[in-house]
Amino acid sequence: MKYYDKLIFELSRPGRIGYSLPDSFDAAKTDAATDEHFSAKRRCICGAAPQQLLRQSKLDLPEVSEVDVVRHYTNLSQMNFGVDTGFYPLGSCTMKYNPKINEEIANHPLFTGLHPLQPAETVKGAQEVIDGLDKALAAITGMKHFTFLPCAGAHGELTGLMLMREYHMARGDAARTKVIVPDSAHGTNPASAAVCGLEIVEVKSGADGLVDVESLKPLLGSDIAGIMMTNPNTLGLFERQIGEIAKLVHDCGGLLYYDGANMNPLLGKVRPGDMGFDIMQMNLHKTFSTPHGGGGPGSGPVGVGERVLPYLRIPQTSGFHGNFGVMLRAYAYILMLGKQNVKLAGPLAVLGANYIKESLKDCYKLPIPSVCKHEFVFDGLINDGAREGKAGATTLDVAKRLLDYGFHAPTIYFPLLFHQAIMIEPTETESLETLDEFIAVMRKIAAEAAEDPDILHGAPHNTPIGRPDETTAARNPILKA
Ligand SMILES: Cc1ncc(COP(=O)(O)O)c(C=O)c1O
Repeated sequence: MKYYDKLIFELSRPGRIGYSLPDSFDAAKTDAATDEHFSAKRRCICGAAPQQLLRQSKLDLPEVSEVDVVRHYTNLSQMNFGVDTGFYPLGSCTMKYNPKINEEIANHPLFTGLHPLQPAETVKGAQEVIDGLDKALAAITGMKHFTFLPCAGAHGELTGLMLMREYHMARGDAARTKVIVPDSAHGTNPASAAVCGLEIVEVKSGADGLVDVESLKPLLGSDIAGIMMTNPNTLGLFERQIGEIAKLVHDCGGLLYYDGANMNPLLGKVRPGDMGFDIMQMNLHKTFSTPHGGGGPGSGPVGVGERVLPYLRIPQTSGFHGNFGVMLRAYAYILMLGKQNVKLAGPLAVLGANYIKESLKDCYKLPIPSVCKHEFVFDGLINDGAREGKAGATTLDVAKRLLDYGFHAPTIYFPLLFHQAIMIEPTETESLETLDEFIAVMRKIAAEAAEDPDILHGAPHNTPIGRPDETTAARNPILKA
């Protein structure tokens, strides 16, 4: 058993303490005063609680030294993989490095000390940040205004679709209950539409991975509320016919919703507003380098164009001011890049993705060979090592083996269009050296698979936790010891 496999309770020894200080000048007096202070506080906090809910016995806390505690938490932090640990090419999720200056600014006491109930005239600076971010996002996307109410991308999708519904209802167009979603869409798109009470109509992609306009035309009618699109789509391909699609949807009375999760490669180059979109969400925790982290703390502001502007929610922020700390980080990032560099982020992300794609396409199947935007999809290994009596290596095996070499796995088995999908997105924050190392490791894994796929079947071999049974882990997770 390794040191960090032990629970902190197993390290506990009776009487061991974190630190000790010399007795103060009158220890007895001070102790009595301290005891009385805490008892009074406890009486005050617990006063209103029913007796049976109060703790009857001493709290069972581990008794450990300071260094045990430090090692315990440091080791725990190293059992997980983060963007600060290494390259994290998670396609569709844009795991961008979170610059530390964002943290410093968001942690400034002048911001952290704000209270949501403070009188408006004492929080002018915070209001300026919100207005500044609204203006910056409007300039970047071509929308008129943003609401900062939603706390994640999917939350933004739902909010945006509710605005779409409201737009039609206000015009007495209640029959528009269907929304068109391409088959390549992220799962949250149809899910948000369903939660919003809309019926989902799927539009097929063509062999080139783009929305097939001829398949779209017969779907359009007086029952269509709109279309949800991601551009570039989840295959990392720019929907070149977006102008024609926008005209067709608008002509039939529908609206265009833009899933802005993939906005990164378009920064400063193309604006959803100019492509004809009416509503969009922006995933600040992707494009603008704010932290992801287990379902939050996110921010998925929703922007609207002229048509939907009258329906935008007022106040524009939730929980008084939305996820203000996240907004601060995003605003700091935008200001740090400035007008010039904001235009560089997208092309650099695109260059990195194409560099990896071209360097690996002789080892991994590339179903759509065209130039990609910020991400692309392989469909498993060209030579998976399968032979008489030996199963070949799968995409899951490749992903697990990457962990042995210190890289986070790309997104796998998504999008659903390919059985062995491996979706890679490097982002602009990675150096050429890091991309080269990743390419070398991916090639090495392909060679291992061809020679002996069992090496991959058993991976990862070097991580604190090996390969859990995927089904049991999902259906019967053990979340605490
Ligand atoms: C294309 C796309 N749309 C929507 C979402 C949902 O965003 P969130 O995870 O913030 O809810 C994601 C998340 O990965 C995405 O990749």
